[in-house]
Amino acid sequence: KAEMELEKNVYRAHCLVLTYPTQGHINPLLEFSKRLEHKGVKVTMVTTHFISKTIHKEATTSIALEAISDGYDDGGRAKAESIHAYLDSFRRVGSQTLAELLQKLSTSGCHVDCIVYDAFLPWALDVAKKFGLRGAAVFTQSCAVDNIYYHVHKGVLKVPLSETEILLPGSPILRPQDMPSFVYDFGSYPAFFEMLVGQFSNIDKADWVVDWMAKIWPLRTIGPTVPSMFLDKRLEDDKNYGFDIFKPNTDACMKWLNGRPKGSVVYVSFGSVAAVEVEQMEEIAWGLRMSNRCFLWVVRESEEVKLPKNFVEETSEKGLVVRWCPQLEVLGHEAVGCFVTHCGWNSTLEALSFGVPMVGVPHYSDQSTNAKYIMDVWKMGLKAPIDEKGIVRREAAEQCIKEIMEGERGKEIKKNAFKWRKLAKEAVDEGGSSDKNIDEFVAKLVNS
Ligand code: UDX
Repeated sequence: KAEMELEKNVYRAHCLVLTYPTQGHINPLLEFSKRLEHKGVKVTMVTTHFISKTIHKEATTSIALEAISDGYDDGGRAKAESIHAYLDSFRRVGSQTLAELLQKLSTSGCHVDCIVYDAFLPWALDVAKKFGLRGAAVFTQSCAVDNIYYHVHKGVLKVPLSETEILLPGSPILRPQDMPSFVYDFGSYPAFFEMLVGQFSNIDKADWVVDWMAKIWPLRTIGPTVPSMFLDKRLEDDKNYGFDIFKPNTDACMKWLNGRPKGSVVYVSFGSVAAVEVEQMEEIAWGLRMSNRCFLWVVRESEEVKLPKNFVEETSEKGLVVRWCPQLEVLGHEAVGCFVTHCGWNSTLEALSFGVPMVGVPHYSDQSTNAKYIMDVWKMGLKAPIDEKGIVRREAAEQCIKEIMEGERGKEIKKNAFKWRKLAKEAVDEGGSSDKNIDEFVAKLVNS
């Protein structure tokens, strides 16, 4: 009881932060949670039982972790017969077990003020409202992508697409192939399409919308959600970054990078979920070889079989292939000069924040739109051209890497990279836009 009293006095408010159970969604919410904690708010992160068992939680992380059920406690999404079955189960069982968790916390005297939830899970807001709690929707993809789904939700942008040029407020002219794959290739993943458009189904009931359009909803932009300790080496001792689903091969990666000259290494990663076609893996492997550069390539365990035979052995002088790396430390390392990326939103934001030029090899979902922005809006890299089969060929990969590392366009891109790095740091620094928005969010949470 004494402990509970102390807790009440120490913390200004208590937020439950509910994540969608993949690495790319846990990371931004974890970072938001850490920033809330710095401002005196108690945070309990909530994920699924299956994911909570796989997480490598750093011992020093003070954020509490609780689990709810998606109906597949022994294997998660991989155990469901379809994406639709999984998402449906997560909505039903998740709503129920989230309500039970709230009940449990309330009975033990641990009062919750607000549920911060990934906008992929709008049912969390309905649960929050049933308990009389406030709800904050966090959009974990880019504003540009959310804007597209919002206009689909409103019926303004009709799918399947019939236009060859799409003009939406705040966006440059987009071609169909710049759209998220679920819109461009309408019908490819109907369950994901519904989930993404469904982000807006009850949004008008949310008390806060984090990272969206201020004119419509009570928006707070909190990005980039990259830990300031990585952007600013002042906070070197703050090592409590955690909750990795995959275990990073930190020592091997950093040791390997430490010996390389500034800007000489190509870093390659396709994120935590992409299952790249075998042919595409081969072409990337050849492109890397032909570029004649040193490379650090993250190939998840499940993807290893797709590497060309003997590739690792034959390229060991120039390359290091690992199953998972500490990406923030890698992107922050001066040896890295170029990032060949699938353009997942976290990777994109992280590269923008560290000022690392990108070669975009988008796979699906929001990644094509991100690649379009990387090349044509932020001018921070190139989108690798594809052939008629949708594959980035080895020559194209080689050419893009060379263009960035030593070409004329590379010089321009590096200049822009420097600018974005500075802007990102300013946003998250004390008094910056991101920092101020979090302050306002906390003030409203505490005072109303
Ligand atoms: C998914 C979707 O694919 C993406 O399109 C969407 O925008 C977010 O959710 P994912 O594919 O995993 O995410 O990519 P990304 O968003 O880039 O997130 C990957 C995260 O894992 C990044 O934060 C990155 O830093 C981290 N990572 C990746 C590592 O820490 N180590 C690695 O070796 C690779």
